[in-house]
Amino acid sequence: MKDRIENLLNEINALTADVPEELERLRLKYLSKKGLVSVLFDEFRNIPADQKKEIGQLLNQLKNATLEKIEILKSSFTITEETADQGIDLSRPVAHMEPGTRHPLSIVRNEIIRIFAQIGYTVAEGPEIEDDWHNFSALNFPPEHPARDMQDTFFIAKDPAILLRTHTSSVQIRTMETEKPPIRKIFPGRVFRNEAISARAHCIFHQVEGLYVDRNVSFMDLKQTLLYFAREMFGESTEIRLRPSFFPFTEPSGELDVSCNICGGKGCNICKYTGWVEILGCGMVDPAVLENCGIDSNIYTGFAFGMGIERITLLKYQVKDLRLFFENDLRFLKQFTGTI
Ligand code: DAH
Repeated sequence: MKDRIENLLNEINALTADVPEELERLRLKYLSKKGLVSVLFDEFRNIPADQKKEIGQLLNQLKNATLEKIEILKSSFTITEETADQGIDLSRPVAHMEPGTRHPLSIVRNEIIRIFAQIGYTVAEGPEIEDDWHNFSALNFPPEHPARDMQDTFFIAKDPAILLRTHTSSVQIRTMETEKPPIRKIFPGRVFRNEAISARAHCIFHQVEGLYVDRNVSFMDLKQTLLYFAREMFGESTEIRLRPSFFPFTEPSGELDVSCNICGGKGCNICKYTGWVEILGCGMVDPAVLENCGIDSNIYTGFAFGMGIERITLLKYQVKDLRLFFENDLRFLKQFTGTI
């Protein structure tokens, strides 16, 4: 009897169970009415009286050891089940995490901000919902100017006119109304125009406006600032060309071309075989605009420029279709790894 108890004890101490069902099978095997441990208890009746004390103690030890073993095996399951319930399994390998990349338009916007910050420009923003004064009137747009037309502008209310700003030039006005020269700022932001969506146009796009107002600001300062910008953005060997143009809020006005960074000026389909691509509009702030904002145009002069971030990004990364910027297709976005 003693040997059988000892063998059974060894057997029980060595038990393992991988799943709760297996543990239940073991419990029945040893502790059910006909179980191996219970059977020994049944036989206890036949033990001679002089051995009863010793064997009884051994049997009790065996029973306790069996109960304890089953508890231990059980607790190992409950711990993993509980932690799994909470979604925590510290032994699991870490799930592969895909680090995001910045959107190409953000990369280029931040690059423009960095380039102008180096020459003392700070960043300001204005509202996307504007009134007629800040988007048009203060910028010298005549009352019947076609840009005010329903076809271009998303109006929210007619009288007084409230609209989605069609350009970031509106932030020039807000800045000059509240600040005194010297002013040296850029204004990045979203703009809206009622245009059919195509590879070259979208009804929502992004601009960066620049403004410098101080005593003795000349066209020469404008040209030199734009040359600096073009070379920082497109490379040191970039050349610029200014063509006369017209905007209601600048006089004189110009459009800036840069030498095509794709073909190096030799001619390709991006520059339509001219060797030049247009990147922005600019000019000397019209004295009437300064006066509209309470700045004395006899003392101060200034220049302004405005560029489309999409356009700069298309050129910089040779993207053929502007719609790609708005579709958020990861296969497209993952190709941009700029960190700023
Ligand atoms: N606001 C113009 C546009 O949206 C861009 C522009 C042109 C801004 C000339 C300027 C400027 O500041 O001087 O097309």
